[in-house]
Amino acid sequence: MAALSDEDLVALYPRGEQPWLRVNFVSGLDGAVAVDGLSAGLSGAADKRVFRLLRMLCDGLLVGAGTLRDERYRPLTLDPARRAWRQEHGLPAYPRLVVVSGTLRLDPAAPALAGAPVRPLILTGPAAPAAARQALEKVADVAEVADLAGGLRLLHGLGLGQLLCEGGPLLLGSLGAEDLVDELCLTLSPLLAGAGAGRITAGAPHPPRPMRTVHALVADEGFLLTRHLRRHSAAPAGS
Ligand SMILES: NC(=O)c1ccc[n+]([C@@H]2O[C@H](COP(=O)([O-])OP(=O)(O)OC[C@H]3O[C@@H](n4cnc5c(N)ncnc54)[C@H](OP(=O)(O)O)[C@@H]3O)[C@@H](O)[C@H]2O)c1
Repeated sequence: MAALSDEDLVALYPRGEQPWLRVNFVSGLDGAVAVDGLSAGLSGAADKRVFRLLRMLCDGLLVGAGTLRDERYRPLTLDPARRAWRQEHGLPAYPRLVVVSGTLRLDPAAPALAGAPVRPLILTGPAAPAAARQALEKVADVAEVADLAGGLRLLHGLGLGQLLCEGGPLLLGSLGAEDLVDELCLTLSPLLAGAGAGRITAGAPHPPRPMRTVHALVADEGFLLTRHLRRHSAAPAGS
């Protein structure tokens, strides 16, 4: 992994045919999605490198409100080299943050929202409280959608064709229920987190969604980087 250049990694994680929804997670060998309620205990250098690379490659970064709250997301700034790479490849300097929240229980002063380099977009449903919406509209656009498929159509219409979802489990469960996941990048962290943590997916059961594995790379410290595509989808170039 250390031997792989950033260019090699970009080739391993090509942008998909648009529209495209890529999901990225890290889990323990026992399937745990968190240690003490956070993903940090599962992560390592190789995982962080891929995490940052995938952010560099996306137009929009989709995250559930629970993850934004629990993980205390920071503003979606990229380092200068990654911003330069994006601009060289015809992309805006920063991806746009897109938060999914039914209740709009989000703090407008949260750094990820108030300090965002690009005005974030919040996808919500018809039951969203008007007062919360009004407060959030000071720092973000808020759009009401009937379901996640409608949300993704809206994003594609805004030019956000390459979407990266960083979770969390409830959002992945909802995306899976609507069969919207084109790609899953899953890092397996070489540890047993033990009982208590959930899996990378949660919520109501949905039918199995077959995937095909594109790569499984053993990286530094034994982290396993895997990439999987929806089995019946057209493969993006380079896969
Ligand atoms: N290991 C990893 O890679 C990884 C990645 C991400 C998160 N995590 C962990 O996952 C945990 C958080 O789990 P979570 O399931 O709460 O995260 P989540 O899916 O990010 O957040 C759930 C919340 O997102 C909103 N939401 C999700 N799907 C929705 C839908 N279809 N419609 C409307 N709103 C929707 C709701 O927000 P409202 O409540 O505002 O309505 C819901 O309560 C944390 O422990 C975090 O560390 C781990």
